[in-house]
Amino acid sequence: MSDNKAKLDINGTVHDYPVLKGSVGPDVVDIRKLYGQTGAFTFDPGYKSTASCESGLTYIDGEEGVLLHRGYPIGQLAENSSFMEVSYLLLNGELPQQQELDDFSYTITRHTMLHDQLRQFYQGFRRDAHPMAIMCGVVGALSAFYHDSTDISDPEHRKISSHRLIAKMPTIAAWAYKYSVGQPFLQPQNDLSYTGNFLRMTFGVPAEEYELHPAVEQAMDRIFILHADHEQNASTSTVRLAGSSGANPFACVAAGIACLWGPAHGGANEAALNMLKEIGTPDRIPHYIERAKDKNDPFRLMGFGHRVYKNYDPRAAVMQKTVREVFDALNVKDPVFETALALEEIALNDDYFREKKLFPNVDFYSGIILSAIGFPTTMFTALFALARTVGWVAQWNEMISDPGQVIGRPRQLYTGPTERDYLSMDKR
Ligand code: CMC
Repeated sequence: MSDNKAKLDINGTVHDYPVLKGSVGPDVVDIRKLYGQTGAFTFDPGYKSTASCESGLTYIDGEEGVLLHRGYPIGQLAENSSFMEVSYLLLNGELPQQQELDDFSYTITRHTMLHDQLRQFYQGFRRDAHPMAIMCGVVGALSAFYHDSTDISDPEHRKISSHRLIAKMPTIAAWAYKYSVGQPFLQPQNDLSYTGNFLRMTFGVPAEEYELHPAVEQAMDRIFILHADHEQNASTSTVRLAGSSGANPFACVAAGIACLWGPAHGGANEAALNMLKEIGTPDRIPHYIERAKDKNDPFRLMGFGHRVYKNYDPRAAVMQKTVREVFDALNVKDPVFETALALEEIALNDDYFREKKLFPNVDFYSGIILSAIGFPTTMFTALFALARTVGWVAQWNEMISDPGQVIGRPRQLYTGPTERDYLSMDKR
């Protein structure tokens, strides 16, 4: 809090509003009393200038391309830690001691199984259902199976449901894949890491021992870290808004998954790889660059641009490096990567993209790695959902633990008809 005040003159009357200071980042004008004092609302569709909550989890400086979780730069976390460690950090605020990490990993590992009846949910879907459709349905259904942890006023319930969500998501996502390819579901195996377990449940078969490739396991774990949380993005805000009414966390996370699915958000990784494949070879890039710049053409460069980053997305830099590591380890070459590198270079030197500060985002390279590992494009957003679950859950917990938390209820600028009398059918 500071003594600074913002002055707002509405129709000749000046009102003062406190200017709040975060630990870092832009100041915030506290307008909570605005409506009560002036009868006016603010208008900010898309929340381009609105801080919807107070949070101590993740900080982004979009101008500088900085992303910190609890103060730690994403590059350092991706390089040195594990997804379990980052999950602990997000949930608890500090990096764990070894014993704390071991206990946390043990707990998560022991929650990875799904209630056996949940298998039947899968049978209700068509085999060609999009994995995100299955994720929305199955995650929403968790509240019907685990209602012993849905009393959100009880911190112990909140903790158990958080652990359950983080732990069960890999099983749910892997089974969505297995169902689509008609292979039997594999149960989790407790001697594997969080990420190793997920890879085995996805690509293993009962007939033989699954061999984990260390480089793939590490790359996958890093991809999970890069997607773990990202401040008040659309799906996280959805989880918070759903949770603000007191809804249980399984339902809230299902709402977050639905929001993440859109191509402007988590669906962009699938769209980006499809776009790169459609472009095909570097000589066709200029045509697509022109289309992206054409106001009359709805085409956009997928995996490019960001609401917050007006600089290189720090996650994209790690992702590009990881592509090379996975390709080297698996000894693969993919012309799509060459196309992506060429597209990035051309776009970054193009006035349109420079002026609008459009840079590659996390989704630009992730699809190339996931494809090399063996995932079909339809699984990409499901993997994003899997990793983002810890962020959703941590943000939801932060909100519910806040004594000042109230239901989210935006207002509007009404432009519809004013009051008028009902007309009987013969008078319309
Ligand atoms: N290709 C071409 N032009 C673009 C692009 C793009 N990818 N992104 C933005 N622009 C232009 C846009 O046409 C607009 O131009 P003008 O000012 O002339 O109307 C200007 O840049 C600003 O765009 P905006 O849509 O007003 O910006 P926004 O902050 O509302 O949108 C975005 C951000 C991520 C939705 C957008 O950049 C986009 O659609 N990108 C492609 C989809 C994508 O990669 N999404 C993943 C985001 S990162 C992962 C995640 O958060 O889920």
